[in-house]
Amino acid sequence: MPILTPSPATIAEAARHILSGGLVAFPTETVYGLGADATQDKAVAAIYELKSRPSFNPLIAHVAELAIAERYAVFDTRAHYIARRLWPGPLTLVLPRRKEALVSDLVTAGLPSLAIRVPDHPVALQLLYAVGRPVAAPSANRSGKVSPTTAEHVEAEFGNRLAMILDGGPTRVGLESTVLDLTGERAVLLRPGGITRETLEASLGEIDVAKPDQPDSPKSPGMLLSHYAPRLPVRLTCDDPQPGEALLAFGPDVPEGFAEVFNLSPTGTLVEAAANLFAALRALDKPDFSGIAVMPIPPQGIGLAILDRLRRAAAPR
Ligand code: TXA
Ligand code: MG
Repeated sequence: MPILTPSPATIAEAARHILSGGLVAFPTETVYGLGADATQDKAVAAIYELKSRPSFNPLIAHVAELAIAERYAVFDTRAHYIARRLWPGPLTLVLPRRKEALVSDLVTAGLPSLAIRVPDHPVALQLLYAVGRPVAAPSANRSGKVSPTTAEHVEAEFGNRLAMILDGGPTRVGLESTVLDLTGERAVLLRPGGITRETLEASLGEIDVAKPDQPDSPKSPGMLLSHYAPRLPVRLTCDDPQPGEALLAFGPDVPEGFAEVFNLSPTGTLVEAAANLFAALRALDKPDFSGIAVMPIPPQGIGLAILDRLRRAAAPR
């Protein structure tokens, strides 16, 4: 079994494995990451290979603290301010990459910018300190599929093709970090995520929101329309239950007539719904059902990130 209980010994072993060019899945507060030494081309290439990820889609460098991040990216006053307030946390900053920084060009997909974050998870931070180098880590799922929020999800994705999975239990936030581009004069939200737009605007004033679904936009290379996709078709409406359809519910008033119901939050709490989203999509993705219908989710706070993931899950494949 590649699943390991985190301890000083297993974390040290995982760090050695990463430094020798291997891949390790590890928990963060958002989703599980598939980590490699960001300074080794071959190790980073192995991430793209294992995930079948298109190489134009750059990766996030994970570091243990702001002072370390500053060795790899250029922080202006604005970037400093927001990083001091919100790191460690589910926020990725896209910043000018330091030319002298020894990060593989495969991490940045050749862009002059670097996406970087400090995750808010004790196991991730201990691992990052032990590695002592930036760790490139996408979500630990096959490209385009549902992201993993437990060690078992990661094992279901890769099985024995992955030597080590550090098990930190279910992740707290449940969907990916917010990606904020600070390379231009105006801050641009590239991916809604664990930190809400409202929280960012409380610190930065009004920010722009990248138009989604323009895969050739150089600002947001990873915003592919079809993503987070279970095998079953996903329908963003629950008006008329189709035969055999399962329901992804939200709130106390659940419509009848579905073959199965998974309620993201019976009390209608968005933060709880976010934490349950990917596990729910996996749980309903069974051949017993004909498809997954989704109840409306309020478009506010972390609800915007939930809707972003659901729209991509429902997009034409
Ligand atoms: O919560 C997370 O961010 C998780 C955990 C493991 O940290 N990681 C994650 O990585 O979601 P990934 O690879 O699934 O998503 C990274 C996103 C992609 O949309 C990618 O296009 C974008 O960040 N990105 C990375 N580098 C970028 C850059 N230089 N400019 C613009 N977007 C970038
Ligand atoms: Mg991902």
